[in-house]
Amino acid sequence: MMKEQVNTLQARFDAQLAQAASVEQLEELRVAYLGKKGYVTELMAQLRTVPPEEKAAVGQLINRLKETLALALEDATRRLREQAMQARIAAAKKYSPSLRRPAPVGSYHPITLIGRELEEIFFSMGFAVEDYPEVVDDYQCFESLNIPAHHPARDMQDTYYLDNGQLLKTHTSAAQNHIMRKYGAPLRAIFPGRCFRNEATDASHETTFFQMEGIMIDEHISISNLIYFMKTMLSEVFGQPVEVRLRPGFFPFVEPGFELDISCRICGGVGCPSCKHSGWLELCPCGMIHPNVLRAGGIDTERYTGFAFGLGLTRLAMMKYGIKDIRTFNSGSLKALSQFESL
Ligand code: FA5
Repeated sequence: MMKEQVNTLQARFDAQLAQAASVEQLEELRVAYLGKKGYVTELMAQLRTVPPEEKAAVGQLINRLKETLALALEDATRRLREQAMQARIAAAKKYSPSLRRPAPVGSYHPITLIGRELEEIFFSMGFAVEDYPEVVDDYQCFESLNIPAHHPARDMQDTYYLDNGQLLKTHTSAAQNHIMRKYGAPLRAIFPGRCFRNEATDASHETTFFQMEGIMIDEHISISNLIYFMKTMLSEVFGQPVEVRLRPGFFPFVEPGFELDISCRICGGVGCPSCKHSGWLELCPCGMIHPNVLRAGGIDTERYTGFAFGLGLTRLAMMKYGIKDIRTFNSGSLKALSQFESL
């Protein structure tokens, strides 16, 4: 009688197990058969009614059923978990990284791009590339450059002064003395940097702009060397010969001094607000370094001469990229500034 019940339970369990499709259903099955009030547990309770001589055999039968069911449930649970894992892996394989939207990566500022290009050009001609702080003192910015206090040339370069007497550099020439002292002669170096001036802004003037200074000091350096390097640099930047003009210019730290202008590439030389309607843009003052400046830098003026130039980097970028208004550079407008990366 009990033996039949065991067989019936086993058959019913097998049928239900075959139907179970989830770990939750298996758990329900376990509770129904092996739980406190489960079929097998109740069968075990009925063992009391079995005649003593059969008790051991029937007891064994029920225990075996219990073990078989428990093992079968364990196996089925493991199998279902494995299937669920495989399904998740298969779903993950369907994910294609190429469908991911590319993250925005930003772009280089046009000043960075043109600065790097110039650095490469000058580096290939044997110039070292130097860096210098933006906060300098009066000696570096003016005195060492043959501009004593109260010299009228200072009026052209009013700037922002700090309480401690230091100032934001008005031109990259402020690094000349330091670099001469650092390397001595012979010397070829360029030093780009941000400059600051108390300036009424317009299409070609900013209060914050970039220059790139260059100096070359050696025996027998003349104006011909200066003109050669300027022309080479500009034709490399524009990828074609560029029309320039030299006119006399006064800077206390060069003698003779020149203004090197470039034909305006925004209007083709006809005249526009970017070139103040002159057709020319003042781009790169230059000249032969004044002996007083060489001496202040510890250079032997009997033996060495040199040239210096102060390229308006921001204005050169305007010409190269056709940017009509210098205020665009500091505008923070990504629409305007992010278009030059691939140039
Ligand atoms: C100077 O700053 C000299 N230190 C340059 C120099 C160096 C001369 C070595 C001789 C030898 P200037 O003030 O002209 O010179 O400025 C040089 C260039 O910087 C200008 O030709 C122009 O291209 C650029 N620049 C000057 N002021 C501004 C400004 N407010 N906004 C934008 N660019 C400017």
